[in-house]
Amino acid sequence: MVKNNIKISLRNAVPSDIRKIFYLSNDPLVRLNSSVSTVIKWEEHKNWFTKKLKDINHLFLLFHFRDKLIGQVRYIVKNNEAEISISVHKRFRGKKISGKMLSLSQKVIIKEYPNVSKIKATVKDFNEASQKIFLNAGYLFKKSYIINKQKYFDFYLYL
Ligand SMILES: CC(C)(COP(=O)(O)OP(=O)(O)OC[C@H]1O[C@@H](n2cnc3c(N)ncnc32)[C@H](O)[C@@H]1OP(=O)(O)O)[C@@H](O)C(=O)NCCC(=O)NCCS
Repeated sequence: MVKNNIKISLRNAVPSDIRKIFYLSNDPLVRLNSSVSTVIKWEEHKNWFTKKLKDINHLFLLFHFRDKLIGQVRYIVKNNEAEISISVHKRFRGKKISGKMLSLSQKVIIKEYPNVSKIKATVKDFNEASQKIFLNAGYLFKKSYIINKQKYFDFYLYL
């Protein structure tokens, strides 16, 4: 049993992480809760991952417990706004680990991108766990809207 006070390590993603992020991204719940829910093909992932590692406006953080991947937090930075994306490996879900990941990653974005003054999180209407983690982390509900018959909520954290 993993407790929520476990020591988790945080580092930037590196090229050799490509495979574990491929599996995490193709986890059924991660796909369901993403804007594009189709299965990701390996070639598609290779291009995406390589591009994301080189993108200076992209902060790609991985969390581990010992050698086990807990999950990832990514921020896409555009001017003073960063858009967050989070996913937790299924073996670590429901253990309140994401709150820790949000607060640790927030420290990094503040340090590395001092111009960022707000963080946006977009969540599908049925993704209750995700809505809760952002609200618990101090994000505020901003608006709801529908794209392709799917309702989304936007939450913002003002730094
Ligand atoms: C969303 C996600 C990051 C949450 O991380 P987590 O560490 O498992 O979440 P927590 O354990 O902190 O649980 C958060 C809250 O949601 C609740 N919760 C957990 N699973 C739930 C579910 N399936 N349905 C409803 N509520 C749920 C928990 O009870 C907790 O509620 P509380 O704060 O009132 O006690 C994780 O489930 C995940 O990776 N999901 C797939 C990817 C995803 O949805 N990413 C976000 C896209 S916006």
